[in-house]
Amino acid sequence: MRQIITVATMKGGSGKSTLASCLAVHWHLCGRSSTIIDADPQRSIARLAAREKALGGVKVVEDATENAWKTARNLASTGPIIIDTPGFRSLATLACIAAADFLLVPVKASPLDIDRMLDTLNSLLEGDEGERRFFRCVLTQTTRDSVIAKQIRAELIEAGFPVLKNEMTNRVGYAEAALWGATPSLIEPAGTAAREIAAIADEVDSIVGIRQAA
Ligand SMILES: Nc1ncnc2c1ncn2[C@@H]1O[C@H](COP(=O)(O)OP(=O)(O)OP(=O)(O)O)[C@@H](O)[C@H]1O
Ligand SMILES: [Mg+2]
Repeated sequence: MRQIITVATMKGGSGKSTLASCLAVHWHLCGRSSTIIDADPQRSIARLAAREKALGGVKVVEDATENAWKTARNLASTGPIIIDTPGFRSLATLACIAAADFLLVPVKASPLDIDRMLDTLNSLLEGDEGERRFFRCVLTQTTRDSVIAKQIRAELIEAGFPVLKNEMTNRVGYAEAALWGATPSLIEPAGTAAREIAAIADEVDSIVGIRQAA
């Protein structure tokens, strides 16, 4: 079944490209034909795919135009299509959000980021007819046992933004894997980072699956 999952926030550096690449590689390694649409003119994903490990062979399609959403819709893929968007508000990003079956919003666990995040989230999530997009926030770059992530999770939920149970913790392994154009699932499949990505992917699957079955 084709699913379009857009990864977006208005906040740069929140982990969009890292999460998008990790999920796509994970699903690819599970035997699903995942594709990434790189809709960011910075070309972070395309650059990763040009490195040695080439994201394990995940298909990457570059389209940073306002038609990126059409490119996603027109793909003959039978697996997840993950759209990585730029860290700023643009027509292309808004269109990719509107075209998505599911929106993932990475939120960096930083007290300095959260207020601006809450301000912009609402405008991002509002559909044309005022309905809410189908989305979840996911905490990124969290530190284990720190109160910061717990507090930010509580603030998001309080403000009406559901958050995935699983988090992407702060690990140098993500950036190290990227040096080779890889993700932790390719470098160390049984490692902690690969397992946390698997947990996030399974949670997304269960949420999207529940909705599609409904
Ligand atoms: N869980 C993590 N642990 C440690 N470092 C991380 C993690 N996630 C991302 N990073 C690092 O943080 C930086 C920003 O991540 P990334 O490029 O994925 O963010 P982005 O939201 O795509 O940024 P942009 O808005 O510029 O596109 C990168 O250097 C990346 O390697
Ligand atoms: Mg990026």
